Amino acid sequence: MTIEQTTERELVGLIDHDDSTDPFPVLGFDSLGWVVGNATQTAHFLRSAFGMELVAYSGPETGNRDHKAFVLRSGDARFVIRGAVDPDSELVGHHTRHGDGVVDVALTVPDVDRCVAQARKAGARIVVEPHDETDEFGTIRTAALATYGETRHTLVDRSNYHGPYWPGFAATQSTSTTPTFVAIDHVVGNVELGMMDRWVEFYQRVMGFENMAEFVGADIATQYSALMSKVVANGNHRVKFPLNEPAVGRKRSQIDEYLQFYRGPGVQHIALATPDILATVDALKAQGVEFLPTPASYYEDPELRARIGHVRVPIDELHERGILVDRDEDGYLLQIFTRPLGDRPTVFFELIERHGSLGFGKGNFKALFQAIEREQEARGNL
Ligand SMILES: [Fe+2]
Repeated sequence: MTIEQTTERELVGLIDHDDSTDPFPVLGFDSLGWVVGNATQTAHFLRSAFGMELVAYSGPETGNRDHKAFVLRSGDARFVIRGAVDPDSELVGHHTRHGDGVVDVALTVPDVDRCVAQARKAGARIVVEPHDETDEFGTIRTAALATYGETRHTLVDRSNYHGPYWPGFAATQSTSTTPTFVAIDHVVGNVELGMMDRWVEFYQRVMGFENMAEFVGADIATQYSALMSKVVANGNHRVKFPLNEPAVGRKRSQIDEYLQFYRGPGVQHIALATPDILATVDALKAQGVEFLPTPASYYEDPELRARIGHVRVPIDELHERGILVDRDEDGYLLQIFTRPLGDRPTVFFELIERHGSLGFGKGNFKALFQAIEREQEARGNL
């Protein structure tokens, strides 16, 4: 195993898995598709603040008169940012309903037809049937399944394609950037009250995903902000989907706030893996990215030191930046959350640096809830 592979295993918490018996083998995230109100400026923000690299473009200049699409990369992570040009584009209605958000969690699969056959047999709704898309760089085999809300999973086999992104996209002049993250670690969905178990069952039945051990049950939910969470993952854990639903708590749930402002279920946050969260937070803050504040009492709590044990940097360094720590039997992780990216209190980013832990920061839920509730209160939505 190479150093890069070892590092990647630790960075996103991979485990060994045999694909040959998997009914719906998934190799990883292909890309995240976004619809936003102004793709030109969102792409600029992701380049200037997050150091993402613009690699491909589609728009009026390339014959796409409906919308602009900017393809951005950082390490293995790829985002496709779309915004309407034509006032009659169907993206306009989507954006009016949901605001800026993730509409497509696209997955790389080795066999699109086999996955769709399995999904159809398991009762999933196929929104795009398997087909080929071809240009001078080769052929992509693709299809798409519906998931929660108006979100979909496009399935992509690009093993016979060598273009910059997708047929019809033009490569862009690469610009020098300072990337701040290297991969997508997990993508979290918010669903309605009572629907979490239904969607957990959907990923098990349709995609053969497994439950990961970490879940947030009624005890944490009722005490600290009314959120229940379970996690499903593909065989090697490269693709991890925590699913949240609101639960009845002391105060209005952050999930209810999301569901109201997104007008239904959707992607709540995207966790971005970084090998050096301190340097990343410093760079992002210098570029104007805002993070959720963490209460000072979090770092002064004597139980914190007992809970987290030895971590690679002094707690003062974490305190200075508001970085959270969690530990489980496999190791620890460092994490921090941005404020919502757009105008609505919906989608946001998490930065995560894993050191053996395969968890999601359950031990930090209390601290995170306290931070989010202060923000909700400031917006008058508590
Ligand atoms: Fe997360």
